[in-house]
Amino acid sequence: MFGFLRSPAPVSSTQEIPTHSEFPNHIAIVMDGNGRWASKRLMPRVAGHKRGLETVRRMVQLCIERGVPNLTLFAFSSENWRRPADEVSFLMQLFMRALREEVKLLHKHHIRLRVIGETSRFAPELQAAIAEAEALTAGNTALNLSIAANYGGRWDLMQAVNHMVATEPDRHGDFTEEDLRPHLCLADLPEPDLFIRTGGEQRVSNFLLWQLAYTEFYFTDCLWPEFDEAAFDLAIASFQRRERRFGRTSEQIKEKRMVG
Ligand code: IPE
Ligand code: IPE
Ligand code: MG
Repeated sequence: MFGFLRSPAPVSSTQEIPTHSEFPNHIAIVMDGNGRWASKRLMPRVAGHKRGLETVRRMVQLCIERGVPNLTLFAFSSENWRRPADEVSFLMQLFMRALREEVKLLHKHHIRLRVIGETSRFAPELQAAIAEAEALTAGNTALNLSIAANYGGRWDLMQAVNHMVATEPDRHGDFTEEDLRPHLCLADLPEPDLFIRTGGEQRVSNFLLWQLAYTEFYFTDCLWPEFDEAAFDLAIASFQRRERRFGRTSEQIKEKRMVG
């Protein structure tokens, strides 16, 4: 069941034709619909965020059970600072509390936690808690759990470009995708095979713009706090019905499968 876990080669998912009915190697989720879940129940929006954390726990467990080795969750976008100050502050506190309370459990289950995004904008205590959690779990291999916080796909691209140029300041105009790739967030992981967005909206909202180049998209009206095992399995089943062609023809894909 954990066969994938021992071979975490950072192969680009956009290069390989996967075998049929395979589980995704990497799932990226936009966890949307917390506010609406709460409003529907006449509760404050933040109650939805609190409940959403329970779905995060459920997804982590499900990925481990199903042998999905990489899970990336969009928790707070670079645009979410535009929300009312009390909601932003609640989200920061929830993040801090979750880090403090869950990290030991994550470590116990051999989960590696990392946070991607412009974390320098967070309060120093939160930055310290992130660094501590990342250091504690750095050697774990059961699941790579990445939380995107103050993350934006455009920010990711720009920080990667800046790092790339800074490493070779005398080089001009001939940088390649291969030069850029190692500077992007999650460069050591395969690119997501499956993107899930709950909450009914069908947009990327500045999530992993580069890394989603050939990812399969799955949108569901289910609100994040209600996204359960059955809903997860529907997303996986939908993924398994897709034919990933990566620019090739359907005939080429079938031929490749037959020869192995
Ligand atoms: C997603 O739920 C969580 C965050 C963006 C932090 P929302 O808060 O966006 O919920 P809706 O979209 O308003 O229902
Ligand atoms: C996207 O959700 C970001 C997260 C889930 C963290 P939003 O609810 O902020 O997205 P938009 O602004 O409606 O596109
Ligand atoms: Mg939303």
